[in-house]
Formats: sequence, structure tokens, C-alpha cells
Amino acid sequence: MVLKVRRYGDPILRRKAAPVAAVTPEIKGLIADLVETMYDQVGLGLAAPQVGIPLRVIVVDDDKGGGARPLINPAISARVGSVVGEEGCLSLPGVFAPVERALWVEVRALDGDGLPLALEARGILARVIQHEIDHLDGILFIDHLDTVSRDRIKRKIKKEGLPDEAPHSAFAL
Ligand code: NI
Repeated sequence: MVLKVRRYGDPILRRKAAPVAAVTPEIKGLIADLVETMYDQVGLGLAAPQVGIPLRVIVVDDDKGGGARPLINPAISARVGSVVGEEGCLSLPGVFAPVERALWVEVRALDGDGLPLALEARGILARVIQHEIDHLDGILFIDHLDTVSRDRIKRKIKKEGLPDEAPHSAFAL
């Protein structure tokens, strides 16, 4: 089922999400809905709080065409380097800005069956994972910008609002 994506200003986007205690059929259903919603919105990643569910579940699209994969209770266990790249967010349609992220990350999580996994990612996938894990802690990509850039974006949103239909971008997370 395609779920409604919460937008900037919705308090759930600022909440710290709770860990998943067990991968129940409900959690598997949530993952299926997240994947469907991510593809409907042409995103590369989506976090459960973005659809109003304050649990530590994200889905990320493998940029090599491997399909969507869920990561439950994900945590970054190692990071290397830094790289600046353009980001957007499905909760902030029409807003894009360069964000500094680690170049390479190692992530520990549970997979869709509740089994532990370790994943190494670089490039766009590493960026997507860092962006989505931020969502679980109530952090948005604009929080990483310098004050001047962030205030400019906030003023623009206050004045013009967010567009109902944003142009789809390969970097909406
Ligand atoms: Ni996002």
C-alpha cells in the first residue's frame, strides 16, 4: 500500500524512533509498504518516520539495480572519508542542497527476516543510508548545512510553502 509521506513541519519527523523488538508480520507489512511508497515517489530510500511510523526501519534502493532492501535497527559501525554531494528528501519536496557525508560506511542491522547483517556501502548507497538513519533520529538533511544556507531554505519554505508536486529527482531520500 502506498502511504502518505509526511512533510517538513510534521513533528514526527523530529522524533527519535524506537527500536524494533521483533520482526513480526506487522513489521514485514510495514517494509512492503515502505518499498511500495519509495518506488511510487521515485525515491532511493525511505524511513518509517516519513510515513508516520516512529520505528527504526528504513528501506534503501541498491543503486546497482539489486532492488530495495530493508534495514531494521540500523547503526553505522564504521565510517571513512568524506564527500559532498547534492541531496533532496521526499519530506522536503523541491529542496536540494550539497551535504557532506562519509564516503564509506559499514552498517549493522537486522534484515527483513530479523537476521543480523553487516553491510559495506560507498557512493550513493552510503549517502542514502546515512540520510535515512538520520531520519530515525529526527535529523533532516538541511540540519547538516551551514546556518546561512539552512536559514535561506527555511525562509523560502515559510514564504512559499512546499510544492504539492515536486519534480522527481534521483536524489530524493
Ligand atoms: Ni529524507
